[in-house]
Amino acid sequence: MTERRVAVIGTGYVGLTTGACLASLGHRVVCADADPGKVERLRRAEVDILEPGLPELVQEGLDSDLLQFVGDTPAAVRDADVVFLCLPTPMGAGGAADLAAVEAVAGEIRAELPHGAVVVNKSTVPVGTADRVAALLGRPDVSVVSNPEFLREGRAVHDFLHPDRIVVGGAEAEAARRVAELYTDLAAPLVVTDAASAELTKYAANFFLAMKLSFANNLATLCERFGADIGDVTAGIGHDPRIGAAFLQPGPGWGGSCLPKDTHALLSVCEAAGIDFPLLRATIETNVEHQARLVERVAAQSSRGDGSLDGVRLALYGLVFKAGTADLRDSPALAIARQLRERGAELYAYDPALTEARPDLSDLVTLVDDPLKAAEGAEAVLVLTEWPDFLELDWEEVAARLDGRLVHDFRNVLDQERLERAGLVRQSIGSPYTMAG
Ligand code: UGA
Repeated sequence: MTERRVAVIGTGYVGLTTGACLASLGHRVVCADADPGKVERLRRAEVDILEPGLPELVQEGLDSDLLQFVGDTPAAVRDADVVFLCLPTPMGAGGAADLAAVEAVAGEIRAELPHGAVVVNKSTVPVGTADRVAALLGRPDVSVVSNPEFLREGRAVHDFLHPDRIVVGGAEAEAARRVAELYTDLAAPLVVTDAASAELTKYAANFFLAMKLSFANNLATLCERFGADIGDVTAGIGHDPRIGAAFLQPGPGWGGSCLPKDTHALLSVCEAAGIDFPLLRATIETNVEHQARLVERVAAQSSRGDGSLDGVRLALYGLVFKAGTADLRDSPALAIARQLRERGAELYAYDPALTEARPDLSDLVTLVDDPLKAAEGAEAVLVLTEWPDFLELDWEEVAARLDGRLVHDFRNVLDQERLERAGLVRQSIGSPYTMAG
């Protein structure tokens, strides 16, 4: 493999993972971030996101001198063969991706890029962004390619080093090939294409995943009504390789920093282009409706008996958008908590990843550091994140603290018999249940 000089702009979970993993593959990597405090911490291998294996890889990179962190973006690119843009593209007005950070950095580096460099859009950006960045750079001697990431939070290092596929797209085959070569050691299937196809591939992947989840959540409702079991049905269909068993676990809706943002961004560009994409709209709407249905189910079984939850105390187990992260962005748990709160519920929440005070959550929930404290005097427990820790809880103790018996297992992670032994009534998603209360 040819060792390359790589610059990575932005050290979020995508940028930092990209930088540390490329250094572990033997490339010489400079990561730049505009936040000087973060750069200082990274120089000490202090990683402020929960990403297994990443702190170790950062430390290894620093020790081998293949990985450096700087605050000066223009300086980072001056010597680079390949420059990865790993910048935030949050949901902007009307759901469209906000490209302000990408555009600002393009302006910052345009005069600094060495002759013949390749700029790579790594973060998820709308179709056409490679062309837009090329226009902003105004450097005919610099190529812009799209190389979307397919990293799951909490498994980012693993996914980077064991990719299902690598997609690189750009107008110049030579530039795309140069980027693909960075990954030679990973021996993954390679799709080399044009920029628009690479950009759309990322949206297509996240849309398809979201569609699968909305499908699974709808199917769960059918199972509840028709006396079927979602686990058995998804196992039954999942053995068909055309369907596949992965990503069919029902839950409290899908969320996180990517699927909601990307599905809304795709919808927004479709609308702008006058293209109706009913499946995409339905995927998003199904998620909203599914969450409303779960809230309705909780309210219908509360002691109030009138659909309101006025003064009803509930224990929420899990707030982050999935287990293995500390990320609350677009968390389904928060979406559900908001609706419960609107109906007047008093929410006591515990999440193993949230160990520090969170003033930003104080209007919504009282965050406690122990699941038993959350259960104290609560009428029911709602499991909203699939932390394995919840399976191992002392459910007799939970039952002793509760002022009710109902456990809404909205992640299907608990053991039915175990809860029954503790005198609790478990209701999962996607199998018939008897209404309590
Ligand atoms: C997602 C994609 O899975 C990655 O491939 C992609 O690279 C990434 O977005 C991105 O665009 O950067 P991530 O946001 O980390 O990754 O989260 P997922 O693991 O996909 O989970 C998304 C949501 O679906 C979570 O709320 C999760 O709890 C839920 N989920 C997932 C289910 O409810 N059931 C499942 O079977 C799987």
